Amino acid sequence: MHNEFMAFINDDHTAPIVQSWAEKQGFPADTVRGGGPDLFATLLESDSPPKLALVDFDGIDQPTQIAARLVSLCGPATQLVALGTTNDVTLYRGLIAAGFSDYLVKPVTPEILTQTMLTASRGEKGAHGAPKEVKVIVIIGVRGGVGTSTIATNTAWMIAHDLKKKSALLDLDLQFGTSALALDIEPGHGLRDVVSSPQRVDGLMIAGAMVSESTSFSVLSAEESIEDLIHVDASAIAALIKEMRPNYHAIVIDMPRHLIPTQKRILATAHEIVLVTEMSLVGIRDTLRIRTTLKGLGSTARITQVATRIGASRPAAVDEAAFAKGAQAKIDFILPDDHKTMTAANNSGKMLGAMAPTAPLTKAMLELAKMLVSSAEEKAEAPKKGGNILSGLFKHAPKEDSKA
Ligand SMILES: Nc1ncnc2c1ncn2[C@@H]1O[C@H](COP(=O)(O)OP(=O)(O)OP(=O)(O)O)[C@@H](O)[C@H]1O
Ligand SMILES: [Mg+2]
Repeated sequence: MHNEFMAFINDDHTAPIVQSWAEKQGFPADTVRGGGPDLFATLLESDSPPKLALVDFDGIDQPTQIAARLVSLCGPATQLVALGTTNDVTLYRGLIAAGFSDYLVKPVTPEILTQTMLTASRGEKGAHGAPKEVKVIVIIGVRGGVGTSTIATNTAWMIAHDLKKKSALLDLDLQFGTSALALDIEPGHGLRDVVSSPQRVDGLMIAGAMVSESTSFSVLSAEESIEDLIHVDASAIAALIKEMRPNYHAIVIDMPRHLIPTQKRILATAHEIVLVTEMSLVGIRDTLRIRTTLKGLGSTARITQVATRIGASRPAAVDEAAFAKGAQAKIDFILPDDHKTMTAANNSGKMLGAMAPTAPLTKAMLELAKMLVSSAEEKAEAPKKGGNILSGLFKHAPKEDSKA
């Protein structure tokens, strides 16, 4: 068995959906097996359990007893999600009482799988008991040099300093990243080891790689040799985010676009993705290409489209309507070009919020930061589309029941 995730699916219609979803998340092909709880129980007798498992209970007599057995065979470190056709509250309660995290009613979609597995992997149970909501925010430039890192660094800083929420910035450009320079802090040592060794990632290792800008803002960045080929392992990033989750309100990831092929898992599970673009034909083309990829991953993230460095001295090459039509996405935020303020900020190693709090660029950036963290509660409450039994079960429940 694989140690991250396994699925045991009984029916020929659901198996290919789960299979294709699992492959897109980067899991090996044999992660999804035919056969249900019986096969899983047999394998558990000789093999260690995965961290997360999806188990099909269709056609199983006494499902709650079998569920309890699986829970005891797996131990507390494994999160188990059940799957079935029956939309029955008694079955649901029995499975949860046995120790399962959630129950999904067929048919499943990639979006539902992503959302449910994400919730389960965080150790949350169904719609209840959600811990403090953390926002994983991925910022990607659809083109190079458009101003992506400026947005990532400044919004992460603003979340900590202006919005008073604990924030961390993870700069995944380990060779050319600019966050440490922009913040006038030392680039840390050790991020390279963290991102390349999934088995070794733990709290101590992360703490060693992290540089604190203040008590509420931490930065993980590097300035590795440009002669090396650096491997950013998807499992290591998942482990890193999992370790960081309990300590932060927001984790802002500055992700170079060339990492998209290897970072599908974090893209599929992030809460927010910000696509930063210039207003040009190539901006349209690459926005469309990246959005199509995200859709294919079954990502449930809210995507915010930002156009930046727009101003009299840098007029847009295409207008908003042409962009919206071509990229099939409207621009949500426009950040003005402000060469003077940016130069002063860069030269002094200060953030916009500290140096020019009233500048229009700073105000627009703060609006973006607010938007990125503000909807945590709304999102936690949003009902899952499709077949999850929880959406039906708790439709009329008081609000607190579907929140923390
Ligand atoms: N709104 C703005 N107005 C004026 N200059 C800006 C603005 N945003 C960013 N810049 C400048 O543009 C340059 C590139 O910015 P940044 O490093 O953020 O881009 P990037 O998209 O992350 O680049 P790369 O693809 O190399 O990672 C920097 O000199 C920065 O100061
Ligand atoms: Mg950058």
